[in-house]
Formats: sequence, C-alpha cells, structure tokens
Amino acid sequence: MRQERRTSTSIYRAATNRTTQAPQDAFARWAALQAWSTDATNRLNEEADLDFWERIAPTYDLGALPTRVPAVLERVRALVPSGTSLLDVGAGTGAFTLPLAQTATRITALDYSPAMLRILRQKLADAAACNVRAVLARWEDAALEPHDVVLAANALYRTADLRLALRKMIELARRRGIVVWSVGRQDAPQQAVREQVRPEQYQAGPDYVHVLEGLYHLDVFAHVDLIETDDTQRYSNDAQATDGLLSWSPITADDQVRVASLLPHLLERDGVGWRWRRRGRIAVIWWDGPDANADAACRS
Ligand SMILES: C[S@@+](CC[C@H](N)C(=O)[O-])C[C@H]1O[C@@H](n2cnc3c(N)ncnc32)[C@H](O)[C@@H]1O
Repeated sequence: MRQERRTSTSIYRAATNRTTQAPQDAFARWAALQAWSTDATNRLNEEADLDFWERIAPTYDLGALPTRVPAVLERVRALVPSGTSLLDVGAGTGAFTLPLAQTATRITALDYSPAMLRILRQKLADAAACNVRAVLARWEDAALEPHDVVLAANALYRTADLRLALRKMIELARRRGIVVWSVGRQDAPQQAVREQVRPEQYQAGPDYVHVLEGLYHLDVFAHVDLIETDDTQRYSNDAQATDGLLSWSPITADDQVRVASLLPHLLERDGVGWRWRRRGRIAVIWWDGPDANADAACRS
C-alpha cells in the first residue's frame, strides 16, 4: 500500500513538473519504434523484404487474411460503397482486391513486389477481372490520382515515414480511408516465452495505436473496429513448436533448449504434437474523406 502511494506520488510529480523539452511527436515515435524493434516482420531493409515476398508469394494466399478471417473482408467490403473507385496499397496477391472488384467499379492495385504482382496478374487473368489495374511501384514514390476509397491492408508494416504514408492516403481518399492492421503483429503472443527465456531480447515495433496517433496528428479522427480471431496454432512435433514460439533473431542454441523445456507448461498436447490456443485481433481503422456522402454515380 505504502509502495503504491509512493509510486503514484512520484508519477504525479513527474507529470506536473514543467519541462521545456518538446515530447517526441507521433511520427518521430513511429520511426524510433521501427528502428528499435526486433520483430521479424518489420523488415525495413527493402531487399530483405522483396526477397521475403519472392519466397512467400506462391503460397501466400493459403494464409491470406481474408481467407483466414472472412469477418475482416466483410467489414472492409461494408466500408467500400458499391460503384466506387478503390486504390489498394500493398495489394500483394490481391486477397482483398479480387473480392472487392465485385463491389468497386475500378481498382488500382499497387505493390512494389514483382513476385506478389505476378500472382495477382495471373489471378486477374484467370478471373477475367478487367476493372483492376496492377501497378508495380513503391507507395512512397507512386504518383496516382485520387480514388474514392484508399485501402492499406497489412501494408504499412515496414513504413519508416508514417507521416508521408498516411498523408498520401488522406490526400488520395475522396470518400474513405481504411488501414487494416494485425494487432501485435504475428509474434506478439509469444510474450510468455520471451519473458521467461530472454526478457530483454524482443522489442515490439509500432502497432495500430501508433497509426491512430499518426492520423490524429494529421487531424483525422479515425474509427477503429477490433475483430477477434481464433489464432490457435498446431505443431506436429517438438522442433516445430520450439520454432513457432521463438520470435526474435538471432536465436541461439541455448534459447532453443530453454524453450523446449517450456513446451509442457505453455502448450497443450495434441496427439504427438502440440496445440497453442490463442486469440488474435485485427484492427480495421477507417475515416471519412471530404466527399464521404457524395453519390458515386455523379462522379466520372
Ligand atoms: C502482408 S502483404 C499484404 C497484402 C494484401 N494487402 C493482403 O492483405 O493480403 C504486404 C504487401 O505490401 C507490399 N508492400 C510493402 N511495403 C510497400 C511499399 N512501400 N510500397 C508498395 N508495396 C509495399 C508488399 O510487397 C506485400 O505484397
């Protein structure tokens, strides 16, 4: 009790102590978190990221978010008024693009990975989807015309300059902007392991709250829908389970031994393998643009 009182008193003193130093702004915090993070998914290095997509592209669709969590696609679909134009930033293999091509009149699907766009172009040809234009470009450099809706689904994970990325979205979105973000990135639930094996090893990067904060600083007061998902993982043997629980790099032999000893405490037996019950959350962040209430049919 005394300890609690002392802590809250010192927090109060610190909070009321005037300082002449400006607090870090949202975009500086974002950049600092990106640079600090050891999360394997932020891949700031462009070459490493493009190599990653080159390897993953052929099988990406098996685990694509709209396939795993149809509720997210339905939420996004409801936010794209029918008969509108859509810009899909970081469209990848088109896991959102193709289903949304049934709602939107015309879609620009932008991605900087040739491997991901190859798959997308093949799918567009197979589906004879003539209302989608695939554009190979970096979002940071792309010069595009405004669209009714601008969507970035799990595409801002490696953004270094959040101000630039969000400003472009806001400027190009006439009716609505949408950012989909897998909360906690994919490795966040491994916290129990990190704390027990190497408490200081994992450093989380920015998350959906920082996207919201960035929007707020640009005078956009966005809505957030959090969609819960069943993220239960199954591993067919000890080695797979150990790999699945390690979320930092580099991983040492000692880390592997220590995690292996934790398996019976963290996971449930599933035949000869293991099951890890966990919940995930997907944030759908959205805002209305200047023409939010315009009638799409009246625009060219
Ligand atoms: C996780 S995938 C998401 C794909 C798709 N939006 C989906 O939800 O299935 C991320 C995609 O963003 C693309 N990407 C990442 N940074 C980009 C950038 N700066 N400009 C364009 N595309 C980018 C990657 O190449 C990759 O295809």
